[in-house]
Amino acid sequence: MAVKILKRSFFQRMLGIPATGMPLKPGCWVFSGKEITIDLDKAPELAAPGGALRLEGAGLPVRVLVVRGEGDAFHAFRNRCTHLGRRRLDPVPGTATVQCCSVNTSTFTLEGKSIHGPGKNPLTVYPVEKKGNSLVVKIG
Ligand code: FES
Repeated sequence: MAVKILKRSFFQRMLGIPATGMPLKPGCWVFSGKEITIDLDKAPELAAPGGALRLEGAGLPVRVLVVRGEGDAFHAFRNRCTHLGRRRLDPVPGTATVQCCSVNTSTFTLEGKSIHGPGKNPLTVYPVEKKGNSLVVKIG
């Protein structure tokens, strides 16, 4: 699989600033038990393929990135590169990959497999279930 590098400035890569910002509507998700429930009506970031939602804080024990793949396929990852810097990830538009925001650009398939860069171990992938217009991500 050919690897495409997401266009970011050297400064952004040095500081590890991801392209994916925090949710436009912070109330679009809740965490309860070991499940994250996302209201897709309040998450425009996931309205189209290639979109992503970055979830952190609010009692969540790990950072999570949810990515919309082709069609109605959604993928969720622990938002932590497997290289030493443990930086955050971004989807790479037009590819079925996510990529570390650091200078080393470790890249992974949507199944979490490493395909480029020093982050050789697979990502932690969480199951996602679509229920009506909500997504349920199980991180337990
Ligand atoms: S932390 Fe991701 S490539 Fe270094």
